[in-house]
Amino acid sequence: MKPTRENWSSRIGIIMAVSGSAIGLGNFLRFPTQVVENGGGAFMIPYFTAFLLLGIPLSFAEWTLGRYGGQYGYGSTPGVFHLISGKQWAKYLGIFGLFVPLVISFYYLLIESWCLAYAFFSIMGMYRSISNTADLKDFLQEFQNLVPPEQLPNFPWQLVFFFITFFVNYWIVSRGISAGIEKLSRFGMPILFLLALVLLVRVFTLPAHPNAPDQTVMNGLGFLWNPDFSKLSDVNVWLAAAGQIFFTLSVGMGAILAYSSYLKKEDDVAHSALSAASTNEFAEVILGASIMIPATFVFLGAIGAAEVVKSGSFNLGFVIMPMIFNQLPLGNFIGFTWFALLFLAGITSSVSLIQPILTFLQDEIGLNRKKAILIVGSITLVVSFTLKRTLALGTLDQFDFWGGTFLPVVSGFIMVIMFGWVFGAKEGWEELNRASKIQVPKLFVLIIQYITPLYLGIMLFLWIKKNIPTIVMDDIVDLQVWKATLIARGGLIVLGIILVILIYIAGKNYTPKTKQHKG
Ligand code: TRP
Repeated sequence: MKPTRENWSSRIGIIMAVSGSAIGLGNFLRFPTQVVENGGGAFMIPYFTAFLLLGIPLSFAEWTLGRYGGQYGYGSTPGVFHLISGKQWAKYLGIFGLFVPLVISFYYLLIESWCLAYAFFSIMGMYRSISNTADLKDFLQEFQNLVPPEQLPNFPWQLVFFFITFFVNYWIVSRGISAGIEKLSRFGMPILFLLALVLLVRVFTLPAHPNAPDQTVMNGLGFLWNPDFSKLSDVNVWLAAAGQIFFTLSVGMGAILAYSSYLKKEDDVAHSALSAASTNEFAEVILGASIMIPATFVFLGAIGAAEVVKSGSFNLGFVIMPMIFNQLPLGNFIGFTWFALLFLAGITSSVSLIQPILTFLQDEIGLNRKKAILIVGSITLVVSFTLKRTLALGTLDQFDFWGGTFLPVVSGFIMVIMFGWVFGAKEGWEELNRASKIQVPKLFVLIIQYITPLYLGIMLFLWIKKNIPTIVMDDIVDLQVWKATLIARGGLIVLGIILVILIYIAGKNYTPKTKQHKG
């Protein structure tokens, strides 16, 4: 047996940590625009269907596999898949549980650092005097070094805030599970909710637009939620809903598995999984939906809001929101609240993106935490830096497509099969209910074995069918973009190869403990 692994020091601690992982930029930026674009209130039908049939079952499965693996000294998908199958080759299927979080972390950290920078710009009033959106857009591009600085003092803002974000993240994970991640979550999550509440009150007390009396907050909520049921026949809406559920719950990608592997044998999983998932849904459907879009509606009206939603959630969050803050009393403070909220939501997510690979390197390659952090940190620094430098060429979008959209579904599919068919749905269900505060009904066995994989399989098939044209023959707009695409994909492939080699090495070090499984 390995020396004893780290543990969470409280139940509320891990629930907050998993909620923290789930509640992120996805809740406050991505979700509201998805709702508006995919049928308003009607989107809730495919969304909650995916939540019940994909999100919850997968979340139960991942928590259970994590706690189980942790008892044998494994906290990453390669180790756990090997453990439960007793087969060497199964560990390679676990590659996505390392690859996906790592790839997301490369660009997530960068975006997180923009939030931190903007929190600073807000409190310092650095965009306070800019009144039109074109100039605010320019301000963002100046910050991103895409255009020469005019409104911003000449200073490497993006670089500096990236370094700060990077070091804070790695400092937290270097302190370990309970002194680092758990502490951050216990401290950060209540503040996050407080900030969201402040913004909520601010938005809900906004008066109607002086020149347009029907541009009220209530009508803004109507604009967001007004159901368009005709959208439900569009398969893309169902895909978007499944994608959002994966992204927002952080399920099926190895992050929750790493966290729950630090549980003790007698710790609860079923109730904790449910608590974390429902906390995320509250933060998404109630808080996430009630801030950005209603505020935008009050200031821009239905037509204007519909237009900016199409221009993307970054534009909304980093250009339109600042424009709105600038027209409010105490705008600096409200702007700070918004970006601090995004940053806090971001950092509690990004530490969970970094943890799986660290867990793998520690448990299975036998590195100590310091070495593991040094290696992963250096790679992250190089890759994130490259993404920053090639922002204009769309490398970040490439990473988001592969790491944040497509492969998570593949990863989730493998995980659900591993749980339902290799570990065994019935054994899994018993393990899930063991030491639990609630008993999950037996229906779960049926769902995890047939419905979830079928649902996921269909989504995956449609996803591939829809995206194949863009995957194989991207429009070559210009040579630079084409080169960047090649670099991004090449980088991802190299990363994949490195991980395969590491997983190979990891297997060699196994003292097979699989015999202890199922007798
Ligand atoms: N759930 C996070 C959000 O809503 C983002 C995310 C996606 C994530 N996949 C993850 C976080 C995996 C941690 C681990 O923003």
